[in-house]
Amino acid sequence: MTTNNSFSYLHGLGNHHESEALPGALPGRQHSPQQVPYHLYAEQINGNSFTTPRFSNLKAWQYRLRPSVLHSGNQPNKMRSDLLQGKFTQTPPAQMRWAPISYKTGHYNIFEGSVKYLYNGTVGQDGCAIYLYTATASMKDQFFINHDAEMLFIPQEGELIFKTEFGRLNIKPGDIAVLPRGVCFQVELLNDKARGYWVENYGQVFTLLSRGVIGANGTTEELDFRIPVAWYEERSGDFTMLRKFNGHVWEHAISHSPLDVVAWCGTYYPYQYDLSLFKPMFTASIDHPDPSIFVVLSSPSLAPGTSNLDFIIFPERWMVADHTFRPPYYHRNAMSEFMGNIRGAYDAKEHGFLPGGASLHNCMLGHGPDTEAYDHAIKQVLKPQYYEGNLAFMLESNKLFEITAEAYESPLREMQYQDCWKDLKLNFKK
Ligand SMILES: [Fe+2]
Repeated sequence: MTTNNSFSYLHGLGNHHESEALPGALPGRQHSPQQVPYHLYAEQINGNSFTTPRFSNLKAWQYRLRPSVLHSGNQPNKMRSDLLQGKFTQTPPAQMRWAPISYKTGHYNIFEGSVKYLYNGTVGQDGCAIYLYTATASMKDQFFINHDAEMLFIPQEGELIFKTEFGRLNIKPGDIAVLPRGVCFQVELLNDKARGYWVENYGQVFTLLSRGVIGANGTTEELDFRIPVAWYEERSGDFTMLRKFNGHVWEHAISHSPLDVVAWCGTYYPYQYDLSLFKPMFTASIDHPDPSIFVVLSSPSLAPGTSNLDFIIFPERWMVADHTFRPPYYHRNAMSEFMGNIRGAYDAKEHGFLPGGASLHNCMLGHGPDTEAYDHAIKQVLKPQYYEGNLAFMLESNKLFEITAEAYESPLREMQYQDCWKDLKLNFKK
């Protein structure tokens, strides 16, 4: 039986939420895992250690048709492991850029159409991995659990429905979804095809940055994050459960849908966010601030102020600063930068960095506007200007990105990317 045919959401990230698909399914304040309404099983999922401080402790109680222990023996799935692991190659100290990922022929789901591009750190412990995907089919009889990582999905084409243990998310290009580590889900397509990016975060869970001097309002607002309401299905059949575990993919048969949580409560749940609700903060006088001003989600490292992984966007906005060089100026960073483009033109590279494409500027590799963008920027009359129709993003990590052989040898990689700077002239005059 399926309840809640339309999408409905709770709002607010980081707080305790509770939701029930049947009235009275939540046991309430007299919670007892011994006697649960509707004869459901009580099960708890913990997103960090039991002793994590109270304000950041993540847990949820689920009240479900069957507990998650029910499954047959796991078998390794080599083909899928190869797809999601990627092959090793030596990562050179070079800037790189890729054309938009192209669709394959036939019907294939989001995990069958994923290509791992970059990774760093240690699977399941710290660091991240970045994948690009295309898909032409929904996951109908397959479910997926990632034991290694929290997952961030960034669609560029096509709407996605995530059916999860906690309810359903529905995202379109310009939205993001975050699936917590260990939460079971499947992905359906609302269109004929879908394309975009997904990320594994092996480090501490994504959080919203403190605003510091910005004050109580601006950038991300907790209330703009949408959390699913409880939804369940009572469905039997010949299904496959896929588990990504320590870098490998395993599978086992399962004869019922594990999306059978009738009610839940707690602080650990999936969420989605509409990036157009981000409130950019910017200078109103001279020069321009660093891209950290555009952080949407941050996975902190153990070094204060240094992120394991930041998700940053470059959204539509007014540019009003005087005495500034408007594109990102030439720079080298200790942090490593991967970029993707959801729509429109990116101001530092108006013609080469396309929606669905990608670029990598690894640790301490110089980068900045191409020759055309530089020549335009130094002559630009700095009137207030609205940057319209664009949405690019950056994934920035405190660790060098390693590249897979699939990405390095891809025909989509521009072999002469560095040529975008080769015509920068020597202008120096004594
Ligand atoms: Fe940069």
